[in-house]
Amino acid sequence: MAYNLADKTAIVTGAASGIGEQTAERFAQEGANVVVADVVAEEGQNVVDELESAGGTATFVETDVSDPADVEALVQTAVETYGSADIAVNNAGIEGRDAPLAELTMDDWNRVIDINLKGVWLCMKHELREMVENGGGAIVNTSSIAGLVAAGGPPYVASKHGVLGLTKVAATQYAQEDVRVNAVCPGVIDTEMVQRAADEDPDSIEQFVQMQPLGRMGTPEEIANAVVWLCSDEASFVTGNAYPVDGGYMAL
Ligand code: NAI
Repeated sequence: MAYNLADKTAIVTGAASGIGEQTAERFAQEGANVVVADVVAEEGQNVVDELESAGGTATFVETDVSDPADVEALVQTAVETYGSADIAVNNAGIEGRDAPLAELTMDDWNRVIDINLKGVWLCMKHELREMVENGGGAIVNTSSIAGLVAAGGPPYVASKHGVLGLTKVAATQYAQEDVRVNAVCPGVIDTEMVQRAADEDPDSIEQFVQMQPLGRMGTPEEIANAVVWLCSDEASFVTGNAYPVDGGYMAL
């Protein structure tokens, strides 16, 4: 255990797969109670079963982060089950359709913005209320290198830039309440999302990977390590920041 999170409860959205799943696992290893939230129930429950069979404490809550009632129920369940919501990782996201901006439909736009941007706002809205009442907390939102540069389709890039804006506003508005809010900006990470994109357009993913000076995809564990650190007391003076974890992509 690098950080002792034994008395903490951590909500992780999009935790049935990829970065969210690994983050949930890291929190469980640190002794936190983990609330696994995802729109896919079977996979989410499987993650909980795995965490519990490894000795962790976890609960699954079926949640569509774009649905206000679902998100309110998610935070309520965390508090009812474990007594508080001290840590939250707002990670659920979709890649959406990558097409020239003028060819996008309303559905293409709304789907990505609803989940990636509105979802992060809704989650923070309920998490922050609970954290303020509880005397503090730590939030990490999953943005992307697409939150810093044009590395993706138009709604995806817009949503991930928006996540950084929301992160900064939340960090400044809630600093006095002892809530820290940061974002991680992963580069190309080996998850189902990237595998789907590679199936559609193998060359473009390979090009992105080659633009990462470390010359490989990152692993979900490498993102989880940064997230857990940001949520720990080791990062007690860190708030309002966007952390690239990108194999050097943003340095070029
Ligand atoms: P993934 O596709 O493996 O996992 C995403 C999870 O989010 C899935 O379990 C999915 O069911 C869930 N999800 C989708 N819509 C949801 C909704 N409406 N409500 C609740 N859960 C929902 O993808 P990955 O790669 O683990 O992505 C996690 C986050 O990391 C996303 O926000 C993504 O944009 C971001 N990211 C990923 C990068 C990568 O290279 N894999 C790079 C930069 C950012």
